[in-house]
Amino acid sequence: MKAFIVDRYGSADRMQLGEVPQPQLRDDDVLIEIHAAGVNPLDSKIRDGEFKLLLPYRLPLILGNELAGVVVRVGSRVQRFKPGDEVYARVDKKRIGTFAQFIAVSEEDLAIKPKSLTMEEAASVPLVGLTAWQALVETAKLKKGQKVLIHAGSGGVGTFAIQLAKYLGATVATTTSTANIELVKRLGADVVIDYKKNAFEEILRDYDVVLNSLDAETLKKSVRVLKPGGKLISISGPPDPAFARQIGLSRIFGLVMRFLSFRIRKLAKRHQVDYSFLFMRASGDQLRQIGLLIDTGAIRPILDRVFPFESTKEAMSYVETGRAKGKVVVKIR
Ligand SMILES: NC(=O)c1ccc[n+]([C@@H]2O[C@H](COP(=O)([O-])OP(=O)(O)OC[C@H]3O[C@@H](n4cnc5c(N)ncnc54)[C@H](OP(=O)(O)O)[C@@H]3O)[C@@H](O)[C@H]2O)c1
Repeated sequence: MKAFIVDRYGSADRMQLGEVPQPQLRDDDVLIEIHAAGVNPLDSKIRDGEFKLLLPYRLPLILGNELAGVVVRVGSRVQRFKPGDEVYARVDKKRIGTFAQFIAVSEEDLAIKPKSLTMEEAASVPLVGLTAWQALVETAKLKKGQKVLIHAGSGGVGTFAIQLAKYLGATVATTTSTANIELVKRLGADVVIDYKKNAFEEILRDYDVVLNSLDAETLKKSVRVLKPGGKLISISGPPDPAFARQIGLSRIFGLVMRFLSFRIRKLAKRHQVDYSFLFMRASGDQLRQIGLLIDTGAIRPILDRVFPFESTKEAMSYVETGRAKGKVVVKIR
């Protein structure tokens, strides 16, 4: 099969389209013919080796973290899927490789694709949808009437998180640039801060939750908009000791993460807010719930561009500009 392979960590040139054998199926795996794959900033970070300590992949590695496609074959212990099913998934972080024609995915990580979406739209959902779900539903336990600030509302995570927070009944503030104000308003944002003109930390007060996906400076300023007891959730770091424990890292890594997050945890404590780092995980169960919200019209994915499979490198470069509005997808079949 055709796949985009990285044989050594490094720049974009290290990724090449090549021929590799079809994946082997484990008993609880489903073999999927991939129709479309979502592109995320994570793909470039993995390619560049930024995650090699946390996620020690064996090279050569096929990139790509999410997909929509059709089940071709199932392992002997698979119960919920059969050949012909249309599915979507964020694959397990240890078994990535969706910039390819086929992949074997554990049944646990898979869900039936929302019926109202095309393959390209469905492929754009899993990673950002699960991130938003795990931040707002699982970690923040966001409730009706609460106030949440979602940074970078026009990005992949932001466009999904705004809609999910509105569905949960929250008041949503977001940061974006002038060009994207209309987009985030259409998605339901109640308070829109143009970060080119205004400082969010001088406008927003008494928020219950902040979802940060930006830099350390934004994270620090975000503490000021929270009320005591509020929750600061960051998906762009720094990782904290609780995260190290959650993914079973060694004591040394735990200490490194304690050190990396020391300043923000200290600041958060001083303001009586709770800081946590989230690294999203695969979940077929949560994708089923997200699929229901999509099929009932509560949430719709926002696609910026669809690239042909051969142009996967260009798709990644486009995401790397940091200017995508919603998601970028490659069409594989
Ligand atoms: N830990 C996890 O589990 C996890 C999961 C998903 C993503 N992430 C990380 O979260 C980050 C965001 O991911 P993403 O997929 O949403 O990225 P993305 O789609 O590439 O984000 C692009 C968007 O960010 C906006 N943006 C850039 N700078 C901004 C600023 N200073 N203020 C407000 N908006 C700004 C841009 O809007 P303008 O053009 O208007 O500036 C653009 O629409 C990445 O670092 C990614 O790796 C982590």
